[in-house]
Amino acid sequence: MSGRHGSTEKDTAGGVGRPAGEHAAARGGARLAGVRKTYGTGDTEVHALDGVDLELAPGSFTVVLGPSGSGKTTLLNVIGGIEQATAGSIEVAGEEISGRSPVDLAGFRREHVGFVFQFFNLVPTLTARENVEIIVELTGVGDARRVPDLLAEVGLADRADHFPAQLSGGQQQRVAIARALATDPDLLLADEPTGALDLTTGRQILGALLDLHRAGRTVVVVTHNASVAQIADTVVTVVDGKIRSVEHNPEPAAAEAVSW
Ligand SMILES: Nc1ncnc2c1ncn2[C@@H]1O[C@H](COP(=O)(O)OP(=O)(O)OP(=O)(O)O)[C@@H](O)[C@H]1O
Ligand SMILES: [Mg+2]
Repeated sequence: MSGRHGSTEKDTAGGVGRPAGEHAAARGGARLAGVRKTYGTGDTEVHALDGVDLELAPGSFTVVLGPSGSGKTTLLNVIGGIEQATAGSIEVAGEEISGRSPVDLAGFRREHVGFVFQFFNLVPTLTARENVEIIVELTGVGDARRVPDLLAEVGLADRADHFPAQLSGGQQQRVAIARALATDPDLLLADEPTGALDLTTGRQILGALLDLHRAGRTVVVVTHNASVAQIADTVVTVVDGKIRSVEHNPEPAAAEAVSW
């Protein structure tokens, strides 16, 4: 895939762990050490992340499981630089991001990270194509001429001029994935990306995320659905702001194996 990211430094940086196997050159990766995220003070203090040590290999596909309120979204957001950790070290795609200013973090996100959310967050007054193009315009990263290719990559070449309300939920989520790809990110972080979708559509979205992983990206999917874990090479379980377990799956299943 074309884009600004051509240097080899991306391939040597990031976490350690399992190699990307036969996949394209691995990108991204994350290494967290002693990470805490505390909201509020005194009686209202919440330890959303309570001392997290975690390594995600460049090019890995991780599913994060855990009960509601366990810290999954917070974990994703500190990896992606949406939120600042209260303490600890966070290295993502070879860059230390803890302690950075909000402006600096915004730059880091533009350069390295794409986000996908449960409810798509598309702009209703823009077409599918425009929803992707606007990211290139706003960030100044990526190439607007690639937008039709990105929509084709997620199977939406024939829906580029439709507005979100004219698209199914799965199609809207695929626009959101194309949007996340507009800046050619090293990491794709998805928070409950299938939470609003039926099984068939959800499998399609997971299949699309697996394709992006095969292209070398680090993908992290947060979900309530334990069945999704079988497609991951790494399964992280979070309980009460702590990592309960990290399991590696030598033979991840295809998206069709998932059910709910
Ligand atoms: N902005 C905030 N202010 C105060 N507390 C917060 C804030 N965001 C999250 N929390 C708290 O931090 C804890 C972890 O929240 P988080 O959103 O990471 O959980 P989660 O595992 O994603 O849950 P869910 O599965 O319901 O989405 C929760 O107890 C939550 O109430
Ligand atoms: Mg959440």
